[in-house]
Amino acid sequence: MALDNKVALITGGAGGIGLATVRVFLRQGAKVVVADVDTERAQAAADEVAHEGAPGAVTAVGVDVSDFDAFQAAVRTTVERFGRLDVLFNNAGIAGGKPLLEHDPEKDYHPMIRVDQDSVYYGILAAGRQFRDQGGGGVIVNTSSIYGEQAAELAFTYSAAKAAVISFTRSAAYELAHQGTRVVAITPGRVATPIINQFSPELRALFASELLRNTMTEPEEIANVVAFLASEESNVINGTVVSCDDGYTV
Ligand code: NAI
Repeated sequence: MALDNKVALITGGAGGIGLATVRVFLRQGAKVVVADVDTERAQAAADEVAHEGAPGAVTAVGVDVSDFDAFQAAVRTTVERFGRLDVLFNNAGIAGGKPLLEHDPEKDYHPMIRVDQDSVYYGILAAGRQFRDQGGGGVIVNTSSIYGEQAAELAFTYSAAKAAVISFTRSAAYELAHQGTRVVAITPGRVATPIINQFSPELRALFASELLRNTMTEPEEIANVVAFLASEESNVINGTVVSCDDGYTV
């Protein structure tokens, strides 16, 4: 299997895309740490999917990814539990927004930047150092968004953070290539997860109509892309953005 014995840390692992990726990774032979700010949900998610992998192949850790020390601790926990780290999926994120001129920077800018942007930098640092210390290699998949490439209504801060994720990806791939580490970004769009399901049925129908297949993307479809990027089958893909938006941006 493509991810046999790879050790993966998946942030936001209790959420829509994160949990779907945990499942796909387990089915492809990986050992997985489900990392989420909500420790109980992370544990429940790990328990729920445990039967899909080898015995003992999944564990949970509570981590606020916007806290660098906590992120480093999650990497340490991964190594203590499974002996190494091969893949970091920087997936945890929050969405939402307001008209720009109504912003209070302390509520509408800094908190989201910490979760959606700073966390990706922290993950690159923590995982990149671990990869270096274990002799090189490793893959980091960062979650950007269609809004990292395009402006959108009520998405000023989210767009800024997701654009930074693309920049981090390019620069980190460039800086870490010497140690054999790959860094790739994905730009999902309109995936049927709690982040999107909070909107009205009318708005969700509009979202779906913006995609070429006219239907919302399923989390597992994104997970399959992440699994490919984490595997050696995609060794030639590095420092770039892999669009998985069902044609939203064409
Ligand atoms: P979700 O809301 O289902 O999952 C997000 C997970 O991240 C949750 O389990 C949440 O508890 C966790 N999380 C939030 N803040 C955290 C923190 N500080 N520390 C650790 N964990 C934290 O959302 P979804 O859709 O699965 O989103 C995953 C990623 O995909 C996010 O980065 C999101 O911005 C991105 N994305 C989603 C799209 C969609 O259409 N659903 C489109 C483009 C990007």
